[in-house]
Amino acid sequence: MPDFVGAVDQGTTSTRFMIFDHGGNEIARHQLEHEQILPRAGWVEHNPTEIWERTRAVIETALNRAGLVAADLAALGITNQRETTVVWNRTTGRPYHNAIVWQDTRTDRIASALDRDGRGDVIRHRAGLPPATYFSGGKIQWILENVDGVREAAEAGEAIFGNTDTWLLWNLTGGTDGGVHVTDPTNASRTMLMDLETLDWDDELLSFFGIPRRMLPAIAPSSHPGLYGTTRRGGPLRGEVPLSGDLGDQQAATVGQVCFEVGEAKNTYGTGNFLLLNTGTDLVRSEHGLLTTVCYRFGEEPPVYALEGSIAVTGSAVQWLRDQLGIISGAAQSESLARQVEDNGGVYFVPAFSGLFAPYWRSDARGAIVGLSRFNNNAHLARATLEAICYQSRDVVEAMRQDSGVTLDVLRVDGGVTANDLCMQIQADLLGVPVSKPVVAETTALGAAYAAGLAVGFWKSKDELKQNWQEGRRWEPQWSEEQRAVGYAGWKKAVERTLNWVD
Ligand code: G3P
Repeated sequence: MPDFVGAVDQGTTSTRFMIFDHGGNEIARHQLEHEQILPRAGWVEHNPTEIWERTRAVIETALNRAGLVAADLAALGITNQRETTVVWNRTTGRPYHNAIVWQDTRTDRIASALDRDGRGDVIRHRAGLPPATYFSGGKIQWILENVDGVREAAEAGEAIFGNTDTWLLWNLTGGTDGGVHVTDPTNASRTMLMDLETLDWDDELLSFFGIPRRMLPAIAPSSHPGLYGTTRRGGPLRGEVPLSGDLGDQQAATVGQVCFEVGEAKNTYGTGNFLLLNTGTDLVRSEHGLLTTVCYRFGEEPPVYALEGSIAVTGSAVQWLRDQLGIISGAAQSESLARQVEDNGGVYFVPAFSGLFAPYWRSDARGAIVGLSRFNNNAHLARATLEAICYQSRDVVEAMRQDSGVTLDVLRVDGGVTANDLCMQIQADLLGVPVSKPVVAETTALGAAYAAGLAVGFWKSKDELKQNWQEGRRWEPQWSEEQRAVGYAGWKKAVERTLNWVD
């Protein structure tokens, strides 16, 4: 058995390739950004060809740096930004349109129409999702309706759909020369097209969006030795490696955090935040604004589900302070600036830039900074921004408690913003539970590697993976109950001010 497992993490802003050893330690990595294409307000696109080229480059560079070749890898896993939609021609390999990214809101009319005639409730029940621009179904419909020739090609089986996992799997396994057209249930559960109980595409859901079934990939377990094919000799690995793991990035991070028991949760702090709670083989339907989603399905075992709170704007609010307001020169400075004040000075910032996702799902909301007095300064705004990241997470934790009855003992965290020590302390303070970060914080790529490695016997069991998890840092709550209650009441009032802003 080779000594290492590789993982491609195709994210919203960049693509990285990482190589791990049996202990889950990082051996090598390379990462490249891709262009964020913003043709109009609310539209966000990526170039799928650029993403494939970046993927090739990061694999080649990381292998070279580590002095490794394909034969050193026991398996390869893929993880990806979810929902982002690619439609391409299976004969030419060319995309019909740029990828429409999860953050893109061009499908707001498609999404709101679903709630006018009862289709929304069918989607809620069967797919576990509230109708929203976020998910792939409306994005596919938009491409079918707005790009010449796609509908005919889709009906003829020529135009095919995939999220970026499927796009990369297809290219890695041969592309126009027999590429495998496949995805896993975690990705499929983000489309509004899959029945959460059968884990198959649902004809009625497909009919809501006018999507021909022939466009859609096969749905294979997230960890499987044979169903994703092997890499081609002509590809970036220059050899054959089993592609045996595929997970959406937030589910991958949940696996990388070894949240395998019911009631275990992780929160990933990136451009947005994504908090997932493992609910086991029970399909818990949310009544408080969370998504029901597939957490993973390993081999022929029954699927494990999760409740998810997706928050659109968290780390990107810090970027906004840097890029639009210019009050900090880098993300790290948000911490030093916020440390200049004791508290938020009465200021709350609700960064509802593209409406509010979980648990509100209000596309009519827009951002607001409230509670200002002449006393306030940039430092209060920086502090309010870090608090906004944490209050939004608290909203999700409250919804999870109401939906599942689970009260967290500890919150496992990962992602870029967890480098901000003050922000993590605020998170512990606002929640009243400890916040814990692992030594290996690259949990997304690690989770994809785990799924791939489990499938080929590189790792024998989930218990073995649990041995690899080690706490690197822990933040204990320091606020009193009263501080917490007063602070949260202010946040809820601020959220109210953002609603009903757009007609
Ligand atoms: O649902 C969107 C999520 O998968 C994006 O994650 O880390 O690529 O911003 P990230």
